[in-house]
Amino acid sequence: MKIIDLVIETLKPVLEQTIDEEKIRELIEKPSYAEHGDMAFPVFVLAKHFKKSPNLIAENLVQEISSDKFEKIVAEGPYINFFLKRAYVSDQVLHQILEEREEYGSQNIGDGGNVPIDMSSPNIAKPMSLGHLRSTVIGESLARIFEKMNYTPIRINHLGDWGTQFGKLIVAYEEWGDPEIVALNPVTELVNLYVEFHERAELDPALEVKARAKFRKLEQFDPEVVQLWEWFKEESIIEFERVYQLLNIKFDYYTGESFYNDKMQPIIDELKEKNISKIDNEAIIVDLEDEGLPPALIQKSDGATLYLTRDLATAYYRKKTFDFSKSLYVVGNEQTTHFKQLKAVLIKLGNEWADDMIHVPFGLITFEGKKLSTRQGNTVLLEDVLNEAIRLAKEQIEQKNPDVKDKEEVARKVGVGAVVFHDLKNSRLNNFDFKLEEIVQFEGETGPYVQYTYARANSILERYEQPLDLENPFKLDDDYSWEVIKLLENYHQIVLRATEAYEPSIIAKYVLDLAQAFNRYYGNVRIHVDDHQLESRIALVHSVMIVIQDALHLLGVEALEEM
Ligand code: ARG
Repeated sequence: MKIIDLVIETLKPVLEQTIDEEKIRELIEKPSYAEHGDMAFPVFVLAKHFKKSPNLIAENLVQEISSDKFEKIVAEGPYINFFLKRAYVSDQVLHQILEEREEYGSQNIGDGGNVPIDMSSPNIAKPMSLGHLRSTVIGESLARIFEKMNYTPIRINHLGDWGTQFGKLIVAYEEWGDPEIVALNPVTELVNLYVEFHERAELDPALEVKARAKFRKLEQFDPEVVQLWEWFKEESIIEFERVYQLLNIKFDYYTGESFYNDKMQPIIDELKEKNISKIDNEAIIVDLEDEGLPPALIQKSDGATLYLTRDLATAYYRKKTFDFSKSLYVVGNEQTTHFKQLKAVLIKLGNEWADDMIHVPFGLITFEGKKLSTRQGNTVLLEDVLNEAIRLAKEQIEQKNPDVKDKEEVARKVGVGAVVFHDLKNSRLNNFDFKLEEIVQFEGETGPYVQYTYARANSILERYEQPLDLENPFKLDDDYSWEVIKLLENYHQIVLRATEAYEPSIIAKYVLDLAQAFNRYYGNVRIHVDDHQLESRIALVHSVMIVIQDALHLLGVEALEEM
């Protein structure tokens, strides 16, 4: 039973004639100060009905209320303050966690419905940027959160694998590329070729003409050209997968833009038939002025389709294939207009399901003040960032716990976990910078701090050698455990809020609060003392571990027994 429901249940009988349950739920507050109780109900809204002052109303209602679920219920000014029976609540919460384990916090919101998540989606023949890191880790976290709410997530990598740039790249490769060098370091070399193409094209404009002709050949599926393009793509995916492996992320589909090459024409035809599109300078566009948006360009005058056209085909394909309940696109906020246009065109075509498509935007991150860019000179590779984080983690582990088992694996989990956690703890729309030195610390608001808390709890648990007897009551009532219990109790609410807001940071901030509250507990309460509450304290430690592990799991960060 949730604490808030206890309060509602208590208030309902005395408020029946005045406001309904939903309204009561909305009004209940969590007081900022412990002396005001654990929950509070402001009575201002009842003044009209009772025609009395709020203070008097609060006093009268308290007289009428009866409940054995609370320690005390008191009127204070215009508020009714509820003080929970700590021992009772701790007993309930700890039993629930220890019985449900990793199911604790799960809710059936999705009824198993499919949720394709468009995530990561880097462009091939280019290194993955920090923006793609964000999309990858936010997407992965949302997949896990949605799974907990009984949706079925489908992870899709919508690779940027089509476009006129491949004409340029192929010309560059054919004219001055060296197969052996490319094979050695594909993405870096392809970027070099691309950069060199632009340098040479400035002196030799004929190259641009050649590149356009080459792309046309690709569009016509000329086998030789297709073969090269496919090779570039394979090599790029191999490099991307090294990063995904470090992050422990697997995709269900690698259906990139080129997958929709043969799926656009029917939509273009439909746009024409329904008179939604019009011709403008030989190009096909959809006017979206009524929606306050720039016109959507569907087909260029030379017949080439666009990013948006592919996304139209993608949306249809996903609806048809997955019959989704929601379809998420985890893509930077610079593409907000694009996704608005996409939805607007789909709605004009009469597809109401487009309302279930959700663009989940995020802000920009910079790395030690720099933007990870693909232009030569200041390229910072994501893979290098992760490997550097792992190296720093290893340094810390060498210092703190040199005898730890599987040092390499522990360092990977800590280093990568630090980067992922730092990304996710910031509200997704905020821009932020990160400095590796700061985030791979075992202290402060970091991933390693939470992992370290978990490992510490684990070592406490290991010292207690008997199994916990779940038949026993787990009654705790001191102030330090109470702060922990209240947080544990709130986990369902937190996961629900994160789901509704598509916001993993809610979970990251929560798990930081929980780790801090637990460390305060640990610093002030002696756990291994043989008294009548020993087993209850162990139950608390174990419950904290279960919830920290689950919350970290929802963020895509691994918990460690030892570090
Ligand atoms: N490849 C694009 C980029 O790097 C992101 C693709 C996002 N997904 C989509 N369906 N448009 O900006």
